[in-house]
Amino acid sequence: MGSIGFDTKEALDRAKKRVDRLSETLGRTPTASVVTFGCQMNARDSEKLEGILESAGFEIIESEDADFLIFNTCTVRENADNRLFGRLGRVSAAKRSNPWMKLAVCGCMMQENVNVERIKKSYPFVDLIFGTHNIFTFPALLDAVYADENSGHMLIDLWDGTDRIVEDLPIRRKYAFKSGVNIMFGCNNFCSYCIVPYVRGRERSRRPEEILDEVKRLAADGVSEVMLLGQNVNSYGKGTDCGIAFPELLERVSGIDGIRRVRFMTSHPKDMSDDLIEVIAAHDNISRHIHLPLQSGSDRILARMNRGYDRERYLDLALRIKDRVRDAALTTDIIIGFPGETAEDVDLTIDVVKQAGFQNAFTFIYSKRTGTPAASFEDQVDPALAREGFDRLLKVVQETAAAETAKLAGTEGEALVESVNADDKALVTGRLSNNMLVHFPGDASMIGDYVRVRLTDPHGFYYIGKRIENT
Ligand code: 5AD
Ligand code: SF4
Repeated sequence: MGSIGFDTKEALDRAKKRVDRLSETLGRTPTASVVTFGCQMNARDSEKLEGILESAGFEIIESEDADFLIFNTCTVRENADNRLFGRLGRVSAAKRSNPWMKLAVCGCMMQENVNVERIKKSYPFVDLIFGTHNIFTFPALLDAVYADENSGHMLIDLWDGTDRIVEDLPIRRKYAFKSGVNIMFGCNNFCSYCIVPYVRGRERSRRPEEILDEVKRLAADGVSEVMLLGQNVNSYGKGTDCGIAFPELLERVSGIDGIRRVRFMTSHPKDMSDDLIEVIAAHDNISRHIHLPLQSGSDRILARMNRGYDRERYLDLALRIKDRVRDAALTTDIIIGFPGETAEDVDLTIDVVKQAGFQNAFTFIYSKRTGTPAASFEDQVDPALAREGFDRLLKVVQETAAAETAKLAGTEGEALVESVNADDKALVTGRLSNNMLVHFPGDASMIGDYVRVRLTDPHGFYYIGKRIENT
């Protein structure tokens, strides 16, 4: 653990010199682009990669024709893998027309040997491969990629794991007014379907003072909303000597001047404590949104998934949250087609969805991930049957989400304006404390503002609203 090391700074200086030379050759500032797949963790890693690229002298753009292109990959489901290979095929033409172009692939997929072998065999034009554990070596890799002796070779730097948490890497934030903040890395839960513990390693918590300092710096830089990130934030601090657990960390972050909204993701139901619920209830600037992955409503399937709770405990928790935090919105993740799942198991899941009243649910068809325990379960489900269960669930999820959303019709809330609406430029898109999106008349000058809105027209799981007054 520690701050950005001397070696990292030195490597960045060397990378800068390489980029200066490239700039002279090209007669313009070289461009770089990071394409991100997957979750908030990856999005935050990409901000670090962009920060390093920018510090080295690249202009950051959003284009697969950039002089330095990175794919930051996800492997949580098979379709995430396929998306990468499709994109790589297309980049080979761009590389032929720009002999100076460098292509790197990093992230979760690269922690699996099979994917690295496939790239070596079928996509030999990739210049650099690295993984999730050594983002902080990227300055050195950037330097090495431009060394003459490496030209035309594929550089590969993959680590099995690390205890190191490197602080203070340069970061280029995607948004001026909001930011993710990693509080921990990795996961120890080993849900039987999940690849994450294998590609992101064991759980490691950052020190509270590092986290609080980062949030203070962000606040001083104009950030008003932070999202505390971890695969399982409720086990923050376990196995460390830092002496504080997640509820206290959350409370301390919420007390930092200038922070108007604190969000967090993801909560594992087995570790969610009453202390945490009380902290949320007691602080208006803690988001009223709790993402609580259910995965299944069948006790038999939950046990085989190694989730550590049953349907009764989950429902009890969901109802306790709604009781204590009256304006709370629950969202969830559900997997259908897990090995051995029957239509009756799907019925049980649908029943929990109806009882818990989710504002939204992300539904996935089970995807077999090589190396996970469930991949070797013998009773894999027929894809047509899984599809049928999925469609049945989706219908109920949509109905429930619409009903939960409609309950708020006519109420007021405070929206943080995030963007101009992509489809209707006369509207802006804001997010309420409970994570609900509301679109209302406005313009780009309002981005980053907190605006009071009335929720007038529910549309599925979002609202069209009206502005009341600026706060
Ligand atoms: N198949 C399908 N969905 C999965 N998820 C994780 N692993 C798999 C898998 N093998 C889902 C879980 C998790 C979300 C991020 O992705 O629902 O909560
Ligand atoms: Fe995120 Fe998991 Fe995908 Fe990695 S594999 S990007 S941790 S969702």
